[in-house]
Amino acid sequence: MTPLQGFERRDGALYCEQVALATIAAEVGTPTYVYSASAIAANYRAYDEALQGAPHEVHYAVKANSSLAVLALLAREGAGFDIVSGGELYRVIQAGGDPRRTVFSGVGKTAEEIEYALESGVGSFNCESEGELALLRDLADRLGRRPSVALRVNPDISAETHPYISTGLTEHKFGIPLEQAERIYGEFRRYAPLALDGVSCHIGSQIFDLGAFQEASAKMLGLIDRLAAAGLSIRRLDLGGGLGVSYKPGQISGSIAEYGRRLREALAGRGFELQLEPGRSIVGQAGALLTRSLYRKQNGEKVFVIVDAAMNDLIRPSLYQAHHEILPVVEAERPRILGDVVGPVCESGDFLARDRALPDVLPGELLAVATAGAYGFVLSSNYNSRPRAAEVLVEGDQWRVIRERETFRDLIRGETC
Ligand code: LLP
Repeated sequence: MTPLQGFERRDGALYCEQVALATIAAEVGTPTYVYSASAIAANYRAYDEALQGAPHEVHYAVKANSSLAVLALLAREGAGFDIVSGGELYRVIQAGGDPRRTVFSGVGKTAEEIEYALESGVGSFNCESEGELALLRDLADRLGRRPSVALRVNPDISAETHPYISTGLTEHKFGIPLEQAERIYGEFRRYAPLALDGVSCHIGSQIFDLGAFQEASAKMLGLIDRLAAAGLSIRRLDLGGGLGVSYKPGQISGSIAEYGRRLREALAGRGFELQLEPGRSIVGQAGALLTRSLYRKQNGEKVFVIVDAAMNDLIRPSLYQAHHEILPVVEAERPRILGDVVGPVCESGDFLARDRALPDVLPGELLAVATAGAYGFVLSSNYNSRPRAAEVLVEGDQWRVIRERETFRDLIRGETC
């Protein structure tokens, strides 16, 4: 089983839903991100269904994949959104998302971004410092808005994941330590322009350990009880991002149904709204990066498969030593090699896979880099003046380009000599 959803092999050829990836590559070229619409929708519904019976909102974390068509698809499914910048809010609005069902998170919101969000009617803010809270109060007062505000509390929980994407310890820049948060709730509750009625936390990404999430929710419930005892009633609890997903055959994605069941159990009878902000587990396995092999060479012992996608297209292997499966788009009988799959960028750190056992890949052959739907295109850049990839959304036997490949003109837009 490949760690992909919505993709399957038919007679040796890899398909996304009913469309052969080779067809897309022939028409759109490579590198191209391809997403399965039905897989994205199914993952969103899995969260929604897992929380049925408890008042809840699923806010898709826009940072994972912010392409308009992906946001529009999720908006149609009924998702709310979790944003971390003015740019993400702009995208949500352009895609038809509802600002009132959007929560503005993030550690460094600027005054302009907060104003834009308030004016657009963003319903909730998760605040990460006292300074931000004071600014939000003043701006809300001036604009005559009264958003729902949660403090993002740092629960000081160590969850096993890559150090760059672990966020729940006090050594991280995120959130406000618990004791400080209690003091701030006490001080700011009297300010009318804020409905200080939420509590939020986020312990990190690519986490499988439901116990860590449970520990976080238990700490948040304790805080909510203490706040209630002090006369402050909480209306919403936001537990942050979703579960880890499979990047390797045999690795099993976190069970959304089981997570939902445990949350419903922990929150039964509490009467407030539960919010989640999943990103990776909605789009990660629903996407692949299509790339074509350019050359194959051997330097001493090492075989290099040089492909037309690079670290500027998918930086996760270089940045987090992340593993992405690399699959031949059309299977053929080949001897297996142990090689590096690398891109054209002038950096030794430019690789998609290292020391990987693969069928020998000939120049011109197509490969699919799996589980690339989350934190793939969004982290891409123009490094080495490489135009960014195209994106395609597949729905059944239909497919369409949802983002055109950049041109050289796009590369110099806004520049002068
Ligand atoms: N909410 C907050 C406040 C977050 O910071 C994040 C992710 C999420 C929700 C969504 O978490 P998810 O459901 O996707 O695990 N670029 C890294 C991942 C960075 C995650 C940042 N925050 C990667 O490629 O692995």
